[in-house]
Amino acid sequence: MSKILVAPSILAADFSNLAEEVRKVESAGADWIHCDIMDGHFVDNISFGPMVVEVVRKQTKLPLDVHLMIEHADHYVPRFVDAGANSITVHVEPEARHDVGKTLQQIRDAGCRVGLTLNPATSFDLLEPFLDKIDMLLVMTVHPGFGGQSFRAEQMEKVKCAAEWNKTRDRKIEIEVDGGINPETARVSIQNGANVLVAGTSIFRSGDYAKTIRDLRGD
Ligand code: DX5
Ligand code: ZN
Repeated sequence: MSKILVAPSILAADFSNLAEEVRKVESAGADWIHCDIMDGHFVDNISFGPMVVEVVRKQTKLPLDVHLMIEHADHYVPRFVDAGANSITVHVEPEARHDVGKTLQQIRDAGCRVGLTLNPATSFDLLEPFLDKIDMLLVMTVHPGFGGQSFRAEQMEKVKCAAEWNKTRDRKIEIEVDGGINPETARVSIQNGANVLVAGTSIFRSGDYAKTIRDLRGD
């Protein structure tokens, strides 16, 4: 079984102390740092851009896992690469308004891990043409836009589909889940085949980052 990775989402961090929060989760045992980019068009919220990713880059050596919840991701990929992204995940929905295949190739050519994601309302079928082109599938377990929402267990069907797809291939894709992930929903996600856990609220609202990260992993 693949190693379980924990990627704290800084959307839930104390932004008045962001540098310190990044250093704290790193020393608490985080594997990646998840950066939620929102443009107020693709999702009904605005978060932060490449400038903040650049600040985070200076605070940690951990891989930066950038989740683009934006329209025209292709236009912005170069800026997030320059800001220090190690992994860039884009949305498959037509509302994201980019040529998915081309953007995935653009991320690959830039030397980043290639991620693709879909909203809870989007069918797994939409991913089929792209699964051979990606390194990671992010299954949204909440509708994107806000932290602190409840886990949507029916999305485990998509995690299972991705795990089945992996069984038929030599090259495995990472299966990441994102939204409402706490120690209990992490266990459900891992049981269904996920190996990367994004968690914002459950980590940053806990009094003990290291314990929460261990509990998420099931250590
Ligand atoms: C939501 C983001 C998630 C979110 C996670 O649009 O993609 O990464 O920040 O939130 P929690 O872990 O707080 O549910
Ligand atoms: Zn995210």
